[in-house]
Amino acid sequence: MARENRIVLKNYGKIDPESIDDYISAGGYKAAGKALKWQPVEIIDEIVKSKLRGRGGAGFSTGLKKRFTHEAMHESGKKYLVCNADEGEPGTFKDRIIMENDPHRLIEGMIIAGYAIGAERAYIYIRGEYYKSVEMLQKAIDDARARGFLGSNIFGSSFLFDMEIRLGAGSYLCGEELTLIESLEGKRGYPRIKPPFPAEKGLDGLPTLVNNVETLSTIPTIVEKGAKWYTRLGTENSPGTKIFTISGDVNNPGFYEIELGVTLRELIYEFGGGMKKGKKLQSVLIGGAAGTFVDETVLDTPMGFDSLKEKGAVLGSGAVMVLGDDKSLPEVTKSILEFFKHESCGKCVPCRVGTTQLVNMINEYITNGKKKDDLLNQMVAEADFMAKTSLCPLGQSPILPLRSLQRYFADTF
Ligand SMILES: Cc1cc2nc3c(=O)[nH]c(=O)nc-3n(C[C@H](O)[C@H](O)[C@H](O)COP(=O)(O)O)c2cc1C
Ligand code: SF4
Repeated sequence: MARENRIVLKNYGKIDPESIDDYISAGGYKAAGKALKWQPVEIIDEIVKSKLRGRGGAGFSTGLKKRFTHEAMHESGKKYLVCNADEGEPGTFKDRIIMENDPHRLIEGMIIAGYAIGAERAYIYIRGEYYKSVEMLQKAIDDARARGFLGSNIFGSSFLFDMEIRLGAGSYLCGEELTLIESLEGKRGYPRIKPPFPAEKGLDGLPTLVNNVETLSTIPTIVEKGAKWYTRLGTENSPGTKIFTISGDVNNPGFYEIELGVTLRELIYEFGGGMKKGKKLQSVLIGGAAGTFVDETVLDTPMGFDSLKEKGAVLGSGAVMVLGDDKSLPEVTKSILEFFKHESCGKCVPCRVGTTQLVNMINEYITNGKKKDDLLNQMVAEADFMAKTSLCPLGQSPILPLRSLQRYFADTF
């Protein structure tokens, strides 16, 4: 039977998250003290060796991203670290759990990351509705500063580092790293065109590392226990643990930190407690709105970045929405497409018009009962065109759920 292996959530329920002394007694801030005695490149090498991949959705190598930002130079010599705590992906609530229950772990991960890339200043961009996360983190930042873990001469070194919280205003698109940076600069949440990537030219035009809350909160453990220890967890290409958030038609919805490689069957029937009474499994939406639907043929596939790709699916943020046989897949699809239409910033035509057309197409089918044999194929063609011509990743997202429906549920449409 698969078990939870809590690394990022190791202190969950065991310490008072408002007490810095509790965190220190549980071994907290030791990893930061250790890391600050290393050379920054040694930290980066260790994180590259750990094969940690970003937990915000894209799964890019965390170590390489740090290396790029470390190597990028600006005449001012300045760089920034940004923690992405926007957590806008539907069905995802893991970052909130970390921030509310162990805020010092995130701060510690940020101190190490900031030192590794050579940043003196960091921002935590939190979605505005996360009142409790903001409160807990602000207290933790104040307490860490009072103890000398933030500010100048941290841990007796010459390292100067501090951070502050900035609030998002409820835009899904502002979770996308370059749009987030625009928002941090006080501008409207419109995306920038990549390249340049943030590592090269980010906040205020300076090299900037953007990492997710869960990614940064994993770093203290990698420094403490080493990359070799970390790569023993999970699978070869997706080592470590992941916090999965399970919702929908299961008996025990919630969050579970489990080694990657766990199967959907284990997630649903062991951790999730099985299907709710009287319901049979129809589909699972993995990774939120910008995710993919799968059917029971994927139940025994190990959950990992590459293994899911082979099945036409994505791991994304780790959201697992379980849909029973009483749910209408066209209705669920409609709510996803309406979400994209609502969140489209309107800057470019293919996405502004395309998201509206997709909603109209599914509405014709559901509301007006107009049947089109090849409705799904038409929607996929539309979304494919959007993916090829839109300015930013939001317009490239509807193709993901639609193509997975075409692969697994063509008959249902
Ligand atoms: C539309 C959109 C929304 C996103 N929202 C989030 C978010 O809420 N939180 C997050 O960490 N990453 C989000 N991302 C991914 C970020 O752009 C970026 O890849 C991530 O913050 C990098 O951190 P990581 O390497 O630690 O995963 C979003 C991406 C897109 C395209
Ligand atoms: S793809 Fe959509 S969200 Fe992105 S810039 Fe274009 S309109 Fe805005």
